[in-house]
Amino acid sequence: MDFLEVVRRRRTTNGPFLPDPVKPEHQRLLVEVGGMAPSHFNSQPWRFVLVEDREKIEEVARISGDSMRQLLEEGTFWKRYRPYFRFSEAEMEERRDGIFFDQMPSVLKPFSRQVFSNTGQAVMNRFGVPKTLGEDNRKLVAGSPLLLAVLLDKTEYRPGELSGFYSVFGMGAAIENIWLTTTELGMGIQFVSTPMEIPENWKRLQDLLKVPDELELMAVYRLGYLPENQRRPTIDWSSRQRKRISQYVFRETCETPEADPGREAAR
Ligand SMILES: Cc1cc2nc3c(=O)[nH]c(=O)nc-3n(C[C@H](O)[C@H](O)[C@H](O)COP(=O)(O)O)c2cc1C
Repeated sequence: MDFLEVVRRRRTTNGPFLPDPVKPEHQRLLVEVGGMAPSHFNSQPWRFVLVEDREKIEEVARISGDSMRQLLEEGTFWKRYRPYFRFSEAEMEERRDGIFFDQMPSVLKPFSRQVFSNTGQAVMNRFGVPKTLGEDNRKLVAGSPLLLAVLLDKTEYRPGELSGFYSVFGMGAAIENIWLTTTELGMGIQFVSTPMEIPENWKRLQDLLKVPDELELMAVYRLGYLPENQRRPTIDWSSRQRKRISQYVFRETCETPEADPGREAAR
């Protein structure tokens, strides 16, 4: 694929992967491109753990699904992330950011906007939404042939110091290299992020991966090859929209938004 085509097509995968194992040469390539990222003073503070062992993946899946259910039942998820949720095409078109819930059982649609209120939360719980989504999430993770844990070397990753910021910056570049490469390989990738939001569950993942004191577990991803026809989960979102250039680029100072392509004449 042409490089820019890869950048344009890079996506987060919300649906299932094929069960096929990820070829060893592809696993190798993914961690090699991760390691090619820039880092402060070439410190290369990232570490990766490739996980293919079924039992481990299923345990991570249980922890992930359970974390999802818990966050949804308590309402933490809705409250924490409400500002990012869009519930109509028009809202998404205007804001051009956030995630749009464009797939949900019709019985729930009338309640979707109230999900952050006490009533909405009660309705969601009554319809068993947290359980459904938790189980969907468990199955998605369990059905992934490969997990990738990303860690940082704590001698570099010192939160609150510049070195800590640089480490996170470099790790982001490493992950982006991996993410782009999945596009080229016909693979998908998604954060397994819910355990991170519940400290005791994150600790369970650290123990499972035998993370030593010198390393900090930063993120876990699920990866696999994409099926030709991608099935969507029961409740799903899309986030293809991007802000217009004039919404995030300025010219010379922050006071002059850059004109959008095709609107130069109006400047
Ligand atoms: C720091 C960070 C955290 C993210 N957390 C999650 C997550 O918890 N679950 C998930 O499915 N996607 C997660 N994503 C992916 C974003 O939702 C996604 O990149 C965004 O909606 C744009 O969609 P796209 O990647 O398909 O272009 C995360 C991305 C970043 C950079």
